[in-house]
Amino acid sequence: MVFTGAGISAESGVPTFRGQDGLWNEFRVEDLATPQAFAAHPKRVWEWYSWRRELISRIEPNPGPLAVAKFERFFLSFCLVTQNVDGLHDRAGNERILKLHGDIWELRCVSCGLSRIDFQAVLPSLPPLCECGGLLRPGVVWFGEMLPVDVFEQAMHATESCDLFFSVGTSAQVFPASQLPVIARQRSAYVVEVNIEPSAAAYEAHEVLLGKAGEILPALAASLQGAMAGLGRGKVHQPSFPRTRESSGGT
Ligand code: OAD
Repeated sequence: MVFTGAGISAESGVPTFRGQDGLWNEFRVEDLATPQAFAAHPKRVWEWYSWRRELISRIEPNPGPLAVAKFERFFLSFCLVTQNVDGLHDRAGNERILKLHGDIWELRCVSCGLSRIDFQAVLPSLPPLCECGGLLRPGVVWFGEMLPVDVFEQAMHATESCDLFFSVGTSAQVFPASQLPVIARQRSAYVVEVNIEPSAAAYEAHEVLLGKAGEILPALAASLQGAMAGLGRGKVHQPSFPRTRESSGGT
């Protein structure tokens, strides 16, 4: 199982939320990422999302998401759970993605509830309107809103049943997604964190691989590919990673 956050998109040029240059250093959550903000200032909220959509439309998946797409092809049983709304995992080639925080390319009507995917980087008018005349909102989860129940349940099931759990490029500060590495560890998965610095959940990991996702994940994919070639088969049925090393919280 691979669980990702904004850090896996950072090397493509998508800003992360926290840390130096993080979006939440420059913008206020309360102004842009709550249902109240949208109700009060839909155009302002849409201008921010439109800026992000335009930015994302110009970039390409980096070697990190491309390696995750290879993992999906390597393993018979694989699950990708992401907090990212940018769609880079889709573009990298993953077919089954559990999107905990929604999708920035989805437009959902606040009146009739209909939703659709729209990849236009620049929408003709802001805020966009539904055919029923209602306001369209970005199909993302805002602060104070529930995660999509079915998606979260599937993510929980995968977390509880996986053998190997990678937590990649997330600060692990946003509940309930931040609980997934904790639950994976409790349920006896081997937990590996990949991050340029230890996250809030690093203490849950058996190993912390410090470095860029775009460098570490392709190296892992290459060694898996080598191992599979040695075994003479196309897919790995049971991952056989050692379960011996304990995390020192930042090695
Ligand atoms: P954050 O911005 O909180 O954290 C990004 C993490 O990526 C940090 O731990 C960085 O150290 C790490 N990082 C940065 N560059 C990296 C790289 N090249 N390789 C590996 N790691 C790198 O982003 P998230 O944890 O995803 O919510 O944030 C969680 C949620 O908070 C987001 O989904 C969003 C935000 O508010 C919603 O939109 C609801």
